[in-house]
Amino acid sequence: MDNVRSPLFYVGDKYKLMPQLRELFPQNINTFYDVFGGGGSASLNTFAHKYVLNDLDTNVINLHKFLAEQAQDFDGFLAHEYDLIEKFGLTRSADGILPANFDEVRAEFKKTYYAKINKESYLKLRDEFNADKSRIDLMYLLLVYGFNHMTRFNAKGNFNLPVGNVDWNNNVERALRNYASFIQNKNIVFENDDFAHFVDSKGYNDGDFLYFDPPYLITFSEYNKWWNDDTEKRLYALLDDLNNRGIKWGLSNVFTHKGKSNTILKEWAQKYNVYPIKANYISRFDNTIKADTAEVYVTNFEPQNDEWLIDESR
Ligand SMILES: C[S@@+](CC[C@H](N)C(=O)[O-])C[C@H]1O[C@@H](n2cnc3c(N)ncnc32)[C@H](O)[C@@H]1O
Repeated sequence: MDNVRSPLFYVGDKYKLMPQLRELFPQNINTFYDVFGGGGSASLNTFAHKYVLNDLDTNVINLHKFLAEQAQDFDGFLAHEYDLIEKFGLTRSADGILPANFDEVRAEFKKTYYAKINKESYLKLRDEFNADKSRIDLMYLLLVYGFNHMTRFNAKGNFNLPVGNVDWNNNVERALRNYASFIQNKNIVFENDDFAHFVDSKGYNDGDFLYFDPPYLITFSEYNKWWNDDTEKRLYALLDDLNNRGIKWGLSNVFTHKGKSNTILKEWAQKYNVYPIKANYISRFDNTIKADTAEVYVTNFEPQNDEWLIDESR
């Protein structure tokens, strides 16, 4: 299975870790519950008969629903986004659509040339979206051209990220194509709920599997505003309850990060199987995450391939 990247280019995206994680997932998954779905890379890189992707962030779920709908007429979607790109005067490097002075600007502003060129057009796009927030087609373009491919809103509910040094390039096209071909023949449902309510609202059958990739208590991302000691403990209680009911799950997290240690997690995880995960990716926020972060995967069943289980006695 090829490893594919989500077109949401999400902070905390698991796509590079999926080859390792997939080996530790059950072999045959009936329904895959992606409880903290984010950009959706866990679902995109896992085989299952059915997918239910949940996230508390309404904007993220709106983007998924929009892209899934657009996948039904993918060429029409591309043509529409290209028209918008042209209307706003943004660059589209995937097809060499660049201004005449591109080389000059690139030579002068080596690391910020796309930001320099697209700034004015991006601000017009942002104003148009803020005047009508139901325009998810515009929100997706803001994500593509915005700072670090992110979405962020101020207290008044307005999109407030500045332009980024990124544009509609081959990576964007490839990710959109992969997403569309994944969605077209899949049974997938999106939900926008708190994890506890989401998990409690479902009935589970043999072969179902729940994957949990929550915000990490000891690292920082925009979505950590929803996470604290209390939510962390509620999550462990929920996982214990699922375990008592014989329902299979897996949890991604970090034991240590930049000298900090998640002792509640380490203690609680002793009851289960813990696997080290090689973090061969670099956080957009923090390029030191690679060096001193111990990524782990905790699961309540014995995967087929358990030779790399962390053995505390060794
Ligand atoms: C580490 S990210 C998930 C990344 C995802 N696995 C991927 O590959 O893109 C954690 C996600 O949890 C979501 N989240 C935070 N608090 C939540 C809650 N209480 N219930 C459900 N989702 C929540 C955040 O919006 C964020 O998308």
